[in-house]
Amino acid sequence: MNNSECLEFDHLVIGSGVAGLSAALHLANAGYQVAVLSKRTVDEGNTKYAQGGIACVTDIQDTFDEHVQDTLIAGARLCKEAVVRQIVEAGPAAIRELIEDGIHFTTRGELGMTEEPGEYHLGREGGHHKRRILHAGDITGAELEETLIRTCRQHANITFFEYHIAIDLIVSQRIGIPGDNHCFGAYVLDVRGNTVKTFRSNTTTLACGGAGKVYLYTCNPDVSCGSGIAMGYRAGAKIVNMEFIQFHPTILYNPQMRSFLISEAVRGEGAVLKVRDTDGRYVEFMQKYHPMKSLAPRDVVARAIDNEMKRRGEECVYLDIRHVPEEKLKLRFPNIFEKCLESGINMSKDLIPVVPAAHFVCGGVETDVNGYTGIHGLYAVGECACTGLHGANRLASNSLLEGLVVSKFVAAHIQRALPSLKREPQALQVPVWSCGNATDSDEQVVIAHNWEEIRRFMWDYVGIFRTTKRLERAKARIKMIRKEIEKYYWDFYVTPDLLELRNIATVAELIIDSALSRKESRGLHYNADYPFLDPDLDGVDTVLQRSFRYYD
Ligand code: SIN
Repeated sequence: MNNSECLEFDHLVIGSGVAGLSAALHLANAGYQVAVLSKRTVDEGNTKYAQGGIACVTDIQDTFDEHVQDTLIAGARLCKEAVVRQIVEAGPAAIRELIEDGIHFTTRGELGMTEEPGEYHLGREGGHHKRRILHAGDITGAELEETLIRTCRQHANITFFEYHIAIDLIVSQRIGIPGDNHCFGAYVLDVRGNTVKTFRSNTTTLACGGAGKVYLYTCNPDVSCGSGIAMGYRAGAKIVNMEFIQFHPTILYNPQMRSFLISEAVRGEGAVLKVRDTDGRYVEFMQKYHPMKSLAPRDVVARAIDNEMKRRGEECVYLDIRHVPEEKLKLRFPNIFEKCLESGINMSKDLIPVVPAAHFVCGGVETDVNGYTGIHGLYAVGECACTGLHGANRLASNSLLEGLVVSKFVAAHIQRALPSLKREPQALQVPVWSCGNATDSDEQVVIAHNWEEIRRFMWDYVGIFRTTKRLERAKARIKMIRKEIEKYYWDFYVTPDLLELRNIATVAELIIDSALSRKESRGLHYNADYPFLDPDLDGVDTVLQRSFRYYD
């Protein structure tokens, strides 16, 4: 593999989901040249697979205060209230812009609920006390992604780089420039050209999405390897609250089919969770766990399902929405209905077997509400970032809202900060990528083996139900594997698989370390050795930051 060219842009955006594309669009609209990197095709990422929708106060019966309260309750006293309020209140304007860009949200008329045209249907999901989810059928993410891609593609200031995987951020402290840490861009693997490019930019925005692939069972696509969090950590950014991993309670249970999400909106329209009892009858169980029953916040529902499955030795639980007529289900959930049918399940006649799986990382690269990381020129937005909106448990459908709103704040902050970031004299010293003495690997099996092992022990030891002993076991394993991967990383040319493995290993260790350091149970983090919430830890984040004494 050869070292190669250096490309210069005003701004670099790493990732092309809702957060990355909207950040790029706002920056491009301000007149800047923006490069957008995608690991695969532009549309491949978590956004495309989001089903539920965008939580936003648009109904006159609803208020910002109520949305804020629902978010704070789900977040288990770890949200930053001022941030929650800013994001919630900026929601309607962001939605209006999307509508101007041509997104189509489902109307009540389309569902046969009214003759009035133009009135949006609002869905409901776990933890929301009001209907406030704007949606496009049950493929909101795909509609959103398509709208943003279309708008970005029409913009002359945006250049897309597909099949380009960021390897690492170029920051002053890693290249030996003294003083405050500055980010000057990133080294990027051009997968098709099999070269490493140096992207130089005044600012870099991490919008790399989630890290579901750290776990054996996840509804995330293959690209969700935590690269933004891992690169942020290696660059010296603070990484916060990584113990809070959200497990979506209802993934279709079908060992032959790739993980498919059954949206919480299905419960919002009346589906009830049931489990098979010893007499073979299907009975409700959520009343034992929470007054909101099947619509309780996600952490409660996922833990309840996990508990029922383990207690009864069952492989799954069930969703029952058989009381809703087939025609209505097909209108409201066309995609889910179809996917269930492919799996031999007619939602209007059969119970839907479901299991929990890793879905969303609530922690990430610490930022303020403007996406600023504290490293000059480095921003993070979307799932890889942690603004304080989600706290210890994200409220359903708040993440697309966050991506849309914070990306706008990012662009505004960048414009304000730009005079001090432009033409840093040190930036001229950015070294191009060097592969040193690396050679082609003849041991691909090492990557496959470590990949498998990490994902399995993360599921078994660092999943929904944790104990200190299990976490310590996971820590011992990850330490060894990380050492092996780092050696491998320096000895051989980088490949997509090696980069993803390295990121997964870093993120796994961040999750384990964070989980070990939180000596309580709160929101999505449950440790049976510390089963209670400690009020002294209200509002206290878990913060991890690497030191630059060791270069890895
Ligand atoms: C869902 O549709 O259940 C997922 C929505 C979300 O995770 O916000």
